Amino acid sequence: MRPRPIQGTGMRSIVSFILLLHMGFMVCQGANPCCSEPCQNRGFCTAMGSDSYECDCTRTGYYGQNCTTPEFLTWVKVSLKPTPNTVHYMLTHFKGLWNIVNSLSFLRNAIMRYVLTSRAHLIDSPPIYNADYGYKSWEAYSNLSYYTRTLPPVPHDCPTPMGVAGKNELPDVKVLAEKLLMRRKFIPDPQRTSLMFAFFAQHFTHQFFKTDQKKGPAFTTAFNHGVDLSHIYGQGLDRQHKLRLFKDGKLRYQILDGEVYPPTVSEVQVDMHYPPHIPESRRFAVGHEAFGLVPGLMMYATIWLREHNRVCDILKQEHPDWDDERLFQTSRLILIGETIKIVIEDYVQHLSGYHLKLKFDPELLFNERFQYQNRISSEFNTLYHWHPLMPDVFHIQDEVYNYQQFLFNTSMLADYGINSLVESFTKQIAGQVKDNN
Ligand code: HEM
Ligand SMILES: *[C@@H]1O[C@H](CO)[C@@H](O)[C@H](O)[C@H]1NC(C)=O
Ligand SMILES: *[C@@H]1O[C@H](CO)[C@@H](O)[C@H](O)[C@H]1NC(C)=O
Ligand SMILES: *[C@@H]1O[C@H](CO)[C@@H](O)[C@H](O)[C@H]1NC(C)=O
Repeated sequence: MRPRPIQGTGMRSIVSFILLLHMGFMVCQGANPCCSEPCQNRGFCTAMGSDSYECDCTRTGYYGQNCTTPEFLTWVKVSLKPTPNTVHYMLTHFKGLWNIVNSLSFLRNAIMRYVLTSRAHLIDSPPIYNADYGYKSWEAYSNLSYYTRTLPPVPHDCPTPMGVAGKNELPDVKVLAEKLLMRRKFIPDPQRTSLMFAFFAQHFTHQFFKTDQKKGPAFTTAFNHGVDLSHIYGQGLDRQHKLRLFKDGKLRYQILDGEVYPPTVSEVQVDMHYPPHIPESRRFAVGHEAFGLVPGLMMYATIWLREHNRVCDILKQEHPDWDDERLFQTSRLILIGETIKIVIEDYVQHLSGYHLKLKFDPELLFNERFQYQNRISSEFNTLYHWHPLMPDVFHIQDEVYNYQQFLFNTSMLADYGINSLVESFTKQIAGQVKDNN
């Protein structure tokens, strides 16, 4: 499965970012001729000395010096194919028609199959580039410490950081953040996205967006590159084992006010990031080290912990002869399936705004040629910084909390209980992600 940022989200900031850098436009001679990205339609540029280049147009469907002339079949396809905007318009209008499509499983399956395969074809699989390799290499393919790059990095010997466009130096990050990223006014999301959704997004994506703070932004510590639920079970066997009860397949937990919560750090001895003032009794330990940051994350961590143990109980009833290991492993697979089902049928469904009823069914692809491997890209991570979803203050029951009161507030979890938090986060509308300035 390839979770993709939905078209348009966060795009505005990126576009304005690029426009800003274009303002100091300059052209340079004598540099790597690939810096101006002359090859179109995903043709591959190779410099031939400092004043000429070659575009490899193989299988792009185009030919010519810059891969700009369409082959006949490409021309036919491009002429007939509706633009992405048209496709999006059709999918988000004509509700009556879609209701009919949704009720005819043959049609719904066929369209869902098309959605999956056409999206998958937009990216290279197996992946090709990373921050240090702008050409294909064994290293870029096999070194899973890197995020992959959907687009090749700008060569090092270019006149500007963006190739040939923009100023010689990137702008000061602080200025950039204040000019382009900082929100001046909260705008409620027009699709009425809730905080419950926002925290789901943060919780779900942090299993595969785990930038390696030691090695730098090109690197990830989430070496599985996908939906492995390492944010629930911990990355690596050592952390997983510390979080496990080793009885009936279950995860370790504690009971507070008669309800199940994650165990404490002192109990299970796993590393978690908490500021010094958090008391030991309120340092919850879960799969992801950073989930103490926001009560919304710890809420989801608790829900999934309870779900894992619930599934274990059911499996044990069905299979009294299964040992702890088998109950644990099978429950984990079931939770992965549940997660993907929720992500496609509720989460992406909401984001897309499509009237087509999306479907998670692995069998849709059994007769298709499909690459099941996945690699998380830097671009995906950059676009998924949906921080504008966050409100100015948090409304929980009848109280209002600012950031200082809310962040790292691990008391809140058991003070309110999961039901209250779910209810409050479901009621509060999140911020609009695009066009915040
Ligand atoms: C109160 C809520 C939140 C706080 C305080 C917060 C804070 C942070 C901080 C300090 C970082 C590291 C710096 C960076 O990479 O930009 C970060 C990263 C990130 N945040 Fe948030 N964030 C919050 C909510 C969210 C939400 C709702 C999303 C939705 C998807 C999100 C998505 C991300 C992503 C994708 C990263 C990059 C992670 C990585 O590469 O390791 N954040 N956040
Ligand atoms: C290819 O691109 C280069 C640089 O943009 C341009 O000078 C050249 O005329 C283009 N060639 C063709 C055949 O369009
Ligand atoms: C991946 O590349 C990085 C940077 O070159 C290197 O430090 C690391 O050892 C490599 N990992 C493996 C498994 O080769
Ligand atoms: C944390 O939340 C509780 C409510 O659950 C509140 O009483 C407390 O003041 C908050 N802590 C801080 C440091 O603001």
